[in-house]
Amino acid sequence: MLVSATEMLNKARDGHYAVGQFNINNLEWTKAILLTAQELNSPVILGVSEGAGKYMTGYKTVAAMVKAMIETLNITVPVALHLDHGSYEGAKACIEAGFSSIMFDGSHYPIDENVAKTTELVELAHSKGISIEAEVGSIGGEEDGVIGAGEIADPAECKKIADLGIDFLAAGIGNIHGKYPENWKGLDFEALDKIHQATGGIPLVLHGGTGIPADMIRQAISLGVSKINVNTECQLSFAAATRSYIEAGKDLEGKGFDPRKLLAPGFEAIKATVKEKMELFGSVNKA
Ligand code: 13P
Repeated sequence: MLVSATEMLNKARDGHYAVGQFNINNLEWTKAILLTAQELNSPVILGVSEGAGKYMTGYKTVAAMVKAMIETLNITVPVALHLDHGSYEGAKACIEAGFSSIMFDGSHYPIDENVAKTTELVELAHSKGISIEAEVGSIGGEEDGVIGAGEIADPAECKKIADLGIDFLAAGIGNIHGKYPENWKGLDFEALDKIHQATGGIPLVLHGGTGIPADMIRQAISLGVSKINVNTECQLSFAAATRSYIEAGKDLEGKGFDPRKLLAPGFEAIKATVKEKMELFGSVNKA
């Protein structure tokens, strides 16, 4: 069932668990995540970065694939199709293309411009029943060639953006995209607590879910995080499983070169990663 992410995240906030956003890249990714969510009776958010959208030939293709797959696989758990780190233009394009949720990442704009653009997109998204996430304090690391500095968001700015009527808020608290470096200081829980206090209970989003230790994930959830984004970890498990298959020479045995066989171990690896995260986030049986 394709739905906006508002209700599932309000429920997660009230129930003290988090819903995973898992980024998709192709049919295998989408199928693996949807089937795992259904098997575990968990709500789920499919994240699509602008780069992944382009790779899959555009947002219309993505929306059509996801909608058809939900129908043909009989997926009855709540599924949101969400633009990840959208630009102003990308957000508008996804609203048109049939996404059920968007993120407008105006964190690199001066706060007043972030406010102005977010305000306009809130109105547009809500007029179509689409949920909207905004961001304050850019998330560190590299994603689609954009390198963020890993800022700690200012609670007053978070309140300003939260008050615009957005449905959930991403705030930088020392989290970064991709693998965490050896010398990473960890999440700034003091900052998260202040942001949580300042923003009146709006569901908070933790980006950069890959590689955050389980105890930090639990603590973040206890401080108002209701959505956790995971991307790189599925890529790493897919790559490792595919590497093992090829290194074992299985693509050279019989019809092992058939893409449906060659991609199967990676597909199963994504399922296992998503399962592990849903269990850690507490979203199992919350559909
Ligand atoms: P990771 O790639 O670090 O899991 O981050 C995902 C993310 O935050 C997508 O917005």
